[in-house]
Amino acid sequence: MSEPKKLFIKTYGCQMNVYDSERMAEALGGSGYVETQTPDEADMILLNTCHIREKAAEKVYSELGRFKGLKADKPDLKIGVAGCVAQAEGEEIMRRSGLVDMVVGPQSYHRLPAMEARARGGDKVLDTDFPEDDKFAALKTRPKARRGPTAFLTVQEGCDKFCAFCVVPYTRGVEVSRPVAQVLDEARDLVARGVREITLLGQNVNAYHGTGPDGADWSLARLIWALDGIEGLERIRFTTSHPNDMSDDLIAAHGECAKLMPYLHLPVQSGSDRILKRMNRSHTAESYLRLIERIRAARPDILISGDFIVGFPEETERDFEDTMALIREVGYGQAFSFKYSTRPGTPAAERAQVDPDVASERLSRLQALITEQQRSIQDAMVGRELGVLFEKPGRMPGQMVGKSDYLHAVHVADCPAEAGELRRVRITESGPNSLAGVLV
Ligand code: SAH
Ligand code: SF4
Ligand code: F3S
Repeated sequence: MSEPKKLFIKTYGCQMNVYDSERMAEALGGSGYVETQTPDEADMILLNTCHIREKAAEKVYSELGRFKGLKADKPDLKIGVAGCVAQAEGEEIMRRSGLVDMVVGPQSYHRLPAMEARARGGDKVLDTDFPEDDKFAALKTRPKARRGPTAFLTVQEGCDKFCAFCVVPYTRGVEVSRPVAQVLDEARDLVARGVREITLLGQNVNAYHGTGPDGADWSLARLIWALDGIEGLERIRFTTSHPNDMSDDLIAAHGECAKLMPYLHLPVQSGSDRILKRMNRSHTAESYLRLIERIRAARPDILISGDFIVGFPEETERDFEDTMALIREVGYGQAFSFKYSTRPGTPAAERAQVDPDVASERLSRLQALITEQQRSIQDAMVGRELGVLFEKPGRMPGQMVGKSDYLHAVHVADCPAEAGELRRVRITESGPNSLAGVLV
């Protein structure tokens, strides 16, 4: 037997990229690779990239620059670029960086082993097709290794919404849902390997409409109820949802399905109807607020999380104030907020841009408000008894760290619970980024 080759993968961007990196590592496992955490000893380096904002995309080129020395020392080292930058700028990457041997778009990962073989032979290979074959079925590998208590599972990919600022419909392609049986198989396999919590992933996960065993299209809620029946699976989450696809059965499931956690990431982007319209979001501030009301009627304690873009083209102070008012009305437990970043090829790129200093100033006001809300919701957990799924030992001896039902990090000192155990914890303290408590 020859020495296994070493694979170093660096992952940027969203959770779907994290999931994809795991699949790529498994696929290349079949070509004799084992993963390493140090690029210096790698025989192959893969950058799994993100194109969502300009800064994210530029990171690829600076990272590649850093590998120049490595490649000079080790001519056999192969360097690949995967993910959304690969999809969007594959040819440019090949042109700009002589270091790159392989470029592979998100829909071609199942072809990676064949590409690797060609790259080993000295070819430069680029695959940014949207092939018709079932990527997920072809990627299906069954390594039986144990794994941590939480896992991502992609059930839906791509997007047909075309928000005016966003590259995702171009980099991930049209919306596709995986068949129910395939998802359930993968979930059972994960549970058999020690997973207790699964987060279902999709760029528009609540638009899921995979074919069920009965031949009908199943909704996300129906899929969640099927997962609920898997013994040993304790928690179900899903992300990211679009307000327009929050169906009645999914809202009801939040009140009725005990394994479905009380946390919902529901990006609104802006609180101004004028801007929402220009963003092509097809919902209004009012329709979003009414939706939140209905979700809270089904599950009063649900923690709402969101995404915001400030400084979208033509955003006025008045528009921004509408966003702040919406935030005050919702009360977010968590949120991601970004300064608008111009993405070439998207409709908003052509419009009148907001002064970057004005946008920065708005962003810091918005973030101050969110931090305040986040903190007060987190502080209100003190004194409550929550479910905590323990994930790993903490930094202090005897300490364990896990996540609450609401996704807050929770530390327990002198903790007899092991990773993978779901226990009740009484919260005693709220720190800057986490809670502390004691086992009940
Ligand atoms: N599918 C999800 C989000 C996908 S991208 C949804 O529909 O909400 C994740 C987040 O990145 C978005 O919610 C948005 O807030 C942000 N984003 C996307 N494009 C952006 C851009 N051009 N500039 C700044 N932020 C952007
Ligand atoms: Fe991008 Fe989400 Fe809009 Fe789709 S729905 S275009 S992924 S922001
Ligand atoms: Fe980035 Fe692509 Fe995800 S652009 S956010 S890695 S879908």
